[in-house]
Amino acid sequence: MIILSIETSCDETAISIVSAVGDFPHAEYKILGNSLFSQIDIHREYGGVFPAVAKREHAKMLVPCLQDSLSEAELLLNNGSVLTQEQTETLHTTLHREPGLGDALITFLENNSKPTIDLIAVTSGPGLEPALWVGINFARALSYVWDIPLVPINHMEGHILSSLFTNDSIPQISFPALALLISGGHTELDLMQEWGEYTCIGETRDDAVGEAFDKVARMLGLQYPGGPEVSSRARRAREENLPSFVKLPRPMLDSDDLDFSFSGLKTAVRYAIEGKTLTDDEIASIACEFENAVTEVLLKKAEQAIEHHGVQTLIVGGGVSANTFIRESFVSHFKKSYPFLAIYFPEKNLSTDNSVMIAFAGHARTQKARPYAELGELSADGNLSLSVT
Ligand code: KG4
Ligand code: ZN
Repeated sequence: MIILSIETSCDETAISIVSAVGDFPHAEYKILGNSLFSQIDIHREYGGVFPAVAKREHAKMLVPCLQDSLSEAELLLNNGSVLTQEQTETLHTTLHREPGLGDALITFLENNSKPTIDLIAVTSGPGLEPALWVGINFARALSYVWDIPLVPINHMEGHILSSLFTNDSIPQISFPALALLISGGHTELDLMQEWGEYTCIGETRDDAVGEAFDKVARMLGLQYPGGPEVSSRARRAREENLPSFVKLPRPMLDSDDLDFSFSGLKTAVRYAIEGKTLTDDEIASIACEFENAVTEVLLKKAEQAIEHHGVQTLIVGGGVSANTFIRESFVSHFKKSYPFLAIYFPEKNLSTDNSVMIAFAGHARTQKARPYAELGELSADGNLSLSVT
């Protein structure tokens, strides 16, 4: 089957075309088209993602993104035909909240005929609701006009599957598996006894770990997104063995649950630097201590969960899983203490938000797909939980 997947939950507008041969999880996948427009440069001036701007940019970029992805997949057929009045009206109604998108899509559809796509998958949560709605309405419009079934997808399930994706397939894994999801909006531990079944066994009580990276970066005068910026300073501090500037706390390291808290860590950085003009070396040293603190907490909580639940497979996903120090620390730690544990990280280019992962999840959830006429209520849910997926 060929899947068209759409991701607009935060600040990336992304559409992929992925072919899947075989049933989930034994399929072979090929990424036929993958187009991603990042809004990072636009949000940088706000120091973070601004939802109204994200929504506007998604509405502007979805049609070019669709065009690019179909073209790369060689599925763009430049012989469309004029739409009926009923089609035009339905498209305008479906997209009435996204200025300009209806007209852009209608022009596209009149120039390009229906591609051979079997399924549309779209992120319905969690994320920024105004941003999610744009993708959902766009997906509904395509489902209607092309008569292709649509399936709503949990973004975090996408992250899990993109971490597993290796050599064009999803490997056989042993259960129970543990997913450690670390992104700009999430820090959670989910236990999986089976494919698609998640129980949240620990989560952050305040900031997500990516959010902490972003906020600390901002305090240190580094650009958004903060993760890669903090990480590169931290690497230099380690390589050059820079002296320590501050000792930061390891929040909730010894709590008797699997929850996290990162806002205290961020506040500790603020107190440490208040009123000071920092040198580059001091910034690097703080970044290093921050990264050490975060890594230590993530490792300990993951280890406790593994021990307690007899976990066989550890899946680390979400944008923060791109962090090299976290990856290396996990691999070297668990190689010693749990040599039989299988650990999965996403390929670097599939670590942060993308739509390929939404196609994998769409394939896993094919049974839940519905044609346009039977879609009923399909809404964005900013706080969509994996346990109801
Ligand atoms: O998964 P993602 O792309 O978006 C959300 O679903 O939130 O994650 C984005 C987060 C940002 O907070 C960003 O700073 C962080 O991932 N991030 C990193 C790294 N690359 C991205 N954090 C630490 N180290 C990195 N190398
Ligand atoms: Zn994400």
